[in-house]
Amino acid sequence: MSMEYLTNSREHMGDSAFYVYEENLIRHNIERFKSLPYDNASVHFASMANDNPVLLSMLKEEGFGLFVNSRKHLELGLSLGFRPDQIVFASTGISAPTMRLLGKLGVRVNIDSRGQLEQFGQQHPGYSLGIRLNIDEKSKNNVFIGAESRIGMLESELPEVFEIARKYNLKLIGTHVYLGTDVTCLEDLLAGVDKTLALSDHFPDLEFVDLGGGFPIQEERFDFEQYRLAVAERLESYSRKRGRSIHLVLEPGRAVFGNTAFFCAQVTDVKERPDRYLVCLNASATLIPRAMFYEDYNPVSVLRSSATGEFDKPVDVVGSTTYSRDFIGRKVQLRQVKPGDWVKLHYAGSYCYAMITRFLGQAMPPEYLIRSNGDVEMIREGESFFADEDESLDLAVAAHSQA
Ligand SMILES: Cc1ncc(COP(=O)(O)O)c(C=O)c1O
Repeated sequence: MSMEYLTNSREHMGDSAFYVYEENLIRHNIERFKSLPYDNASVHFASMANDNPVLLSMLKEEGFGLFVNSRKHLELGLSLGFRPDQIVFASTGISAPTMRLLGKLGVRVNIDSRGQLEQFGQQHPGYSLGIRLNIDEKSKNNVFIGAESRIGMLESELPEVFEIARKYNLKLIGTHVYLGTDVTCLEDLLAGVDKTLALSDHFPDLEFVDLGGGFPIQEERFDFEQYRLAVAERLESYSRKRGRSIHLVLEPGRAVFGNTAFFCAQVTDVKERPDRYLVCLNASATLIPRAMFYEDYNPVSVLRSSATGEFDKPVDVVGSTTYSRDFIGRKVQLRQVKPGDWVKLHYAGSYCYAMITRFLGQAMPPEYLIRSNGDVEMIREGESFFADEDESLDLAVAAHSQA
């Protein structure tokens, strides 16, 4: 942490919301994916879940690759030292300049439509590509499944896909799917794997199968050990059937950082209504916008309070803006707090900072990391500032020590 930064910031008192991650928890999550009992596998973190450069570098050191869906994240990955062959790229509607760059770099690309395959073939005849396939997603809140989904191609499109590939001498070496997100039912996740392997039978030159997403944020709600064994067994058996070792790519996003961070913010007001209290924070849902996208609220608890007892009515936690939908938490049971106290939002490590929107003009919060040796490091500067360095460090550590 830069002393100069904090010293200069003393006059900016008040805008003090922040994110804080814990390295031990991150290392633990990483280990879950590294210990797969199938040798021919790689893990590519989905950078849309979290694009903090320090955290991505940590994954790189641990041997992870990246899955990116944008040129910006591709360039971020390259700037952090990921080699092009350690990056998987997929998105709908890749632009012609981005396609040119991907082909020139030799990044692994999974193509999403027949039209895109045609465009890619024109630019890079002879290239080896993966194909994004559409399977039913078991995602918690995702209603756009199967043919309704905008992602990938349907099985019925495959004859034409192979025709286009022949025209441009493209080698279709892989299949790529999205299995949904936050899937806690092992059978559902494995059903997605089985369906992917069955569709992969159509691909004579198959070298890899890429399983996007799926893993839940809460470790205790999912049997990772069973998953590891079951997926390894499936890949061993599928490789035997195909007569060659098929490379398995896993693309976790949410599960890598989700439970490793809190978003902490200070109470600025408490309003009483007949049916509830409104606890107002020096922050906004725009700084932790998952609920604005999916109405899936992060759990809230008290980090530091000068009051005692529980609120005697449910609490809505709201932002300090005029936007009528600025709800950070709804109908929560909360210990009493007063202005100046602190609350924290749980499971804030994935799809939280990464989703921040500029709407409502909030100051960007800084991100801190509690290192395994107890040091607290600022891993991304914000536009919001602590009045007091010691208080910021105490709060960051307290957020995790009470977890
Ligand atoms: C292709 C692909 N892979 C991986 C992920 C990461 O998913 P999750 O965060 O559920 O692990 C996503 C998320 O949208 C995705 O689209």
